[in-house]
Amino acid sequence: METPPYTPGRILIPQARIAERVRELGRQISSDYAGSDLLAVGVLRGSVVFAADLLRALEPEIRVRVDFVRAGSYGDGTTSRGEVTVGETDHLVSAGGNVLIVDDVVDTGRTLRVLQEKFRAAGPRSLRTAALLDKQAPRTDDCPIDYIGFSIPDVFVVGYGLDYAQRYRHLPDIRVLEAGPGSNVKQR
Ligand code: IMP
Ligand code: MG
Repeated sequence: METPPYTPGRILIPQARIAERVRELGRQISSDYAGSDLLAVGVLRGSVVFAADLLRALEPEIRVRVDFVRAGSYGDGTTSRGEVTVGETDHLVSAGGNVLIVDDVVDTGRTLRVLQEKFRAAGPRSLRTAALLDKQAPRTDDCPIDYIGFSIPDVFVVGYGLDYAQRYRHLPDIRVLEAGPGSNVKQR
């Protein structure tokens, strides 16, 4: 198998800090949705680790349903391709109710904006978004984020569900992707 031009480098957010913040988000979301139904929709595949932890940080009393939607705007590179593909969402919302989109990272905002538009069109009672990472990158698209785990600088990160070319999702910390030996690709 070919050696990737990038490898995971320094730890940006250690796992203990992630766990602590996810617990805080869980408490906040639980109190905001106290007494109501909640449909949490994880965005595949980057949010699976965050979603799994966030769901278990919700109070047992919250009436939660869980589903997933596929979305993508990245190829195997580290910059957005621009076109966004989103799977079907109508069936997710058909029962009505409060929808919480659970996403990994908002970069240009394009993916999240398209997702939010699709969900809104399906007519949920309410629509909010939780994003683990809010990248301080030029935002091309308007997309309100109601719950933010961390604001991070404009660097490409991997781990805790986030990938580079489908790799490194299993790393427990969030790390900055760094140019490996032989790389001729410039990092943003
Ligand atoms: P946007 O549409 O430009 O906001 O890009 C959002 C999507 O691109 C995220 O859901 C991720 O799948 C991917 N992405 C953006 N930045 C990163 C990163 O630093 N690491 C891994 N994936 C990223
Ligand atoms: Mg994603």
